[in-house]
Amino acid sequence: MKGIILAGGLGSRLLPLTKITNKHLLPVFDKPMIYYPIRTLVDAGIRDIMIVTGGNSAGDFLRLLGNGSEFGLEDIAYTYQQGEGGIADALRLTEHFAAGDRICVVLGDNLIEGNILNAVTQYQKQKEGAMILLKEVPDPERFGVPEFSDGRIVRIEEKPRTPKSNYAVIGIYCYDPRVYSIIRTLKPSGRGELEITDVNNAYIEAGTLTHSILEGWWTDAGTFESLHRASHLVAEGGANKQKTGKAS
Ligand code: DAU
Repeated sequence: MKGIILAGGLGSRLLPLTKITNKHLLPVFDKPMIYYPIRTLVDAGIRDIMIVTGGNSAGDFLRLLGNGSEFGLEDIAYTYQQGEGGIADALRLTEHFAAGDRICVVLGDNLIEGNILNAVTQYQKQKEGAMILLKEVPDPERFGVPEFSDGRIVRIEEKPRTPKSNYAVIGIYCYDPRVYSIIRTLKPSGRGELEITDVNNAYIEAGTLTHSILEGWWTDAGTFESLHRASHLVAEGGANKQKTGKAS
């Protein structure tokens, strides 16, 4: 299993902070944002990691992270996304790195309290398809939102005005190699992006999408409010704790 961190995009919701640097290099309490998704993958036992950067200051990732020795890694692979074509567009660039293996994708602005080791272990037993992680939230309209029928997800809507559940699809996804042929079929959405939600809906249609509910807190950090909340959550109790979701 390989790990992929998507840290492209222009971070326009955080302007002017992102005018001179990349969103994922901004501080979340005492560390740059990108440290948290790396730790999420490393804690899940994934050591073969590619970071997709983009926008401003891409070279600073190399200066900051080098070969990942701070995380006990031997090296980190990097690639560059031109423009802001969407999450699935950034993922498209990693096909040669995945080289037919299964992948665990983490969005560069997603932080968790616990770890995803159990979910990843469960996914590895799955014969084919994808697994997504969900979290109950007070503001589902900001995210991809699943609609359930008899406990199964029948559809995911991206930022719906009237959410069909109180769950967010969080930015951690496990995929089999079919993901890259799905991306090739996608058309840009209304906001001009290749949407990860369309990828997940393709797996639903194929009947091969499973889900798991994340324990412990989860937050994104892509708006001023969520960036502030992320710093506060980390300062109060820390992120990426070894025991899933429980304060230690
Ligand atoms: O945080 C979870 C949510 O992330 C999901 O619930 C949504 O379904 C999913 O679409 C996404 O929503 P956002 O609108 O919040 O995504 P955002 O545009 O903020 O991008 C999240 C990360 O993805 C960003 O930190 C870096 C990466 N990204 C994004 C874009 C648009 C790229 O690498 N390239 C891109 O072009």
